[in-house]
Amino acid sequence: MPIRRTGAAMSASTNDDAIRSLSDLPSPRGLPLLGNMLQLDLPRLHLIFEKWAEEFGSLFTIGLGPKRVFVCSDADLLQTALRERPERYRRYSPIEAVSQEMKGNGVFSVEGEEWRPQRRLVMQALASRNFSSFFPILKGITERLHRKWDHSAKTNEVVDMAKDLVRFTVDATTALAFGEDPNTIEESGDVIQQHLAEVFPMMMKRVNAPIPLWRYLKLPSDRKFDRSLHAIHRHVESLIERSRKRMRDQPSDVPRNLLEAMLTAASQPDSGITDEVIVANVQTLLLAGEDTTAHSLAWTMYFIAQDKQLQSRLQLASSDAFGSSQLCPTFEDIKKLDLFEYVTQEASRFKPVVPLLYMEPVVDVVLGGVALPSGTPLFFMLRPAMLDSNHFGRPDEFLPERWSAGHLEVQPHDSKAYAQFGAGPRVCPGRNLAAVEMRLVLSMLSRNFSMELAVGPEAIKEIAAFTMMPNTMPVRLHSLH
Ligand code: HEM
Repeated sequence: MPIRRTGAAMSASTNDDAIRSLSDLPSPRGLPLLGNMLQLDLPRLHLIFEKWAEEFGSLFTIGLGPKRVFVCSDADLLQTALRERPERYRRYSPIEAVSQEMKGNGVFSVEGEEWRPQRRLVMQALASRNFSSFFPILKGITERLHRKWDHSAKTNEVVDMAKDLVRFTVDATTALAFGEDPNTIEESGDVIQQHLAEVFPMMMKRVNAPIPLWRYLKLPSDRKFDRSLHAIHRHVESLIERSRKRMRDQPSDVPRNLLEAMLTAASQPDSGITDEVIVANVQTLLLAGEDTTAHSLAWTMYFIAQDKQLQSRLQLASSDAFGSSQLCPTFEDIKKLDLFEYVTQEASRFKPVVPLLYMEPVVDVVLGGVALPSGTPLFFMLRPAMLDSNHFGRPDEFLPERWSAGHLEVQPHDSKAYAQFGAGPRVCPGRNLAAVEMRLVLSMLSRNFSMELAVGPEAIKEIAAFTMMPNTMPVRLHSLH
């Protein structure tokens, strides 16, 4: 169970007068040379840090081999680091190095001047204004998921939610960003998701490795990963090839999606967009758009499935919004689905799919009164602040209404302590797409099915693999019609 901390004593000051150094901070006992490395079981990393935060407070340090890491669960300090990019902070540099080796150094991991043109293109492509024309496609993808679940409900088959949802999100991202709908929901067998699923766990392993062993010696797991990476690159290259062909065969004055915008920019001198950048960003978008949204949906279902009252409220909200339709009929109707978004936000307060953010300062800084030389690894935990009564009233209760703008009963409500989409200049550009996808899927689910977990909740465990996912999410659906 996540940690819960209350009281001002746990909060670190943003006042920079009282300077301490990293070695003044408390630290769990480690070993000479190795530091705390052997205690860091990666799939449970966020849980280990949260436990240490209970013991040592909101600021402590760990040893990662020879490196000293600043570990922090203070929401204000996280906001400072996120907002003071790119001048004073950046993502933890191994993220860029590891992404580069995987040919995936796109907008998420790239730093400095190269980042700006990529960010501009991605922001334009994922802007909410594109969603109304995209809605019929997204509705079609949701309809497919409905058909699949309807079949499972009628045949009393357990639905592997974690698996179905990544198929949904890959179809949605590919359709919006790359202009084609791969229909992996209805495809059986070898789909690209099984290779994409290898990337985040390996990123997690390599980003946290004190020595980049894989560069000198390939273990069987590295070779298996290389095969998945190869399959992803083939998939990305064929997406690009088909997009080039569509642009030749059906020319358009304005790019119709992100991939066309990148291909158009690449043909202009000094755009900063090269073929390598395009490959990296197609891969980045596939990864960034897939797991995060799918796991958020899966965790939300974990709460809905265990709460019959909430299910009834959501059923009512969806039938009020849809009338006789089985899923959201028009783009305008999405606005009627606020309750569904509140439920996803509340679920992610307890089960954050991004439990850790990895950063480092690019100049010497003082953060929370601690002097941090440029290049110090900064690991931020996101959940402790979200479960702290200084930031959220009645933090232990699942109260979706707390997210409604006019709702003043549950106080305090410090939205800055909710950093699931990051903050500042690099805040997640896919958050609006994710919100629309989640509203559509959850409203379709509630309109048509009641649900229950097919295993006891205690069997569902948190696994950290860059994002935080459930180890399993088997669900039984019952048709309401
Ligand atoms: C519930 C779903 C999602 C969550 C929780 C999430 C979370 C995040 C977080 C925490 C960051 C880092 C932000 C920062 O450094 O301040 C991020 C960045 C990013 N996300 Fe998302 N994300 C989600 C969905 C998506 C989707 C659907 C897409 C695109 C299809 C996407 C694309 C990106 C990209 C490209 C970045 C890098 C932005 C940059 O560095 O400039 N995300 N996301």
